[in-house]
Amino acid sequence: MIKHLRSAADLDAGTATLILDTAAEMAALAGREVKKLPTLRGRTVVNLFYEDSTRTRISFEAAAKRLSADVINFSAKGSSVSKGESLKDTALTLQAMGADAVVIRHPASGAPHRLASWVDGSVVNAGDGTHEHPTQALLDAYTMRSRLGRIDGLNVAIVGDVLHSRVARSNVLLLTTLGAKVTLVGPPTLIPVDIAAALSPGTEPSRGGKPKENRTGVSYDLDSVLAGTDVVMMLRVQTERMQDSYFPSAREYSRRYGLDVPRMRKLPEHAIVMHPGPMNRGMEIAPEVADSSRSTIVEQVANGVSARMAVLYLLLGGKA
Ligand code: ASP
Ligand code: CP
Repeated sequence: MIKHLRSAADLDAGTATLILDTAAEMAALAGREVKKLPTLRGRTVVNLFYEDSTRTRISFEAAAKRLSADVINFSAKGSSVSKGESLKDTALTLQAMGADAVVIRHPASGAPHRLASWVDGSVVNAGDGTHEHPTQALLDAYTMRSRLGRIDGLNVAIVGDVLHSRVARSNVLLLTTLGAKVTLVGPPTLIPVDIAAALSPGTEPSRGGKPKENRTGVSYDLDSVLAGTDVVMMLRVQTERMQDSYFPSAREYSRRYGLDVPRMRKLPEHAIVMHPGPMNRGMEIAPEVADSSRSTIVEQVANGVSARMAVLYLLLGGKA
């Protein structure tokens, strides 16, 4: 088993499948009266959050507690970070307190990689800048597998602000490793040039078997991809990370790239609608779509606890 989960690229198909299978076992616990396992008793998990979070922070805390670990929640706001303390000194302080795993969310891309060189325990990336969010990709893959029965061969459209989305990057890596085909959809200003180049045929080495060039693509026209899509994953427009104007207006964005009811009707009957949250209701997704029976948005949150339990369990030495 790997020691750290810094990127979805840390996962080959076998390891990712082991995590998803373990998450399924963890999910079975949720139905029981006593939801706790004694597996991580005596181990310490630190949640180190330098950026705001609702779902990820709470679900990592719930996951660690359900495995009986001791949990320390650290939020940069209200800590000595405001006195200028560096990430390295904060990490060494946590190390001195005996952290077996550090779950980190940070605005700087690459922060989990630096952290892993300073602490002895496992490092789990809970979102670093615009880089990656691997446990989100795992819970998304888990949700697809439980709703549609497989990942291999699925057509997944990831739609919207790909440029600023660590969710999109981790999902492209994980889903293509597991055999899905991914189409990135959005305005040209919000599809990074390097992603478009990396996804061009023959430029990217294959991972875990089949040639990657068969599994990825880019489209600037949402309407043309919907009919052939099994999963449509809407991304939040991340205005807090935007320094320039990437589209003429919110209304224009919605008109071209928002998922509303008429567009949802173009999807095949079995297709599901995903969103990592938080949503801009009425912008990238219409409220009627977010609350429809095709939407897995609430399910994704519940699956996040099981997926994160599986990650902590396996990284900290549990067996499948
Ligand atoms: N919550 C996800 C993230 O932190 C997606 C988002 O914020 O739009 O990356
Ligand atoms: N999906 C996600 O990471 O949500 P939070 O930012 O609320 O943690």
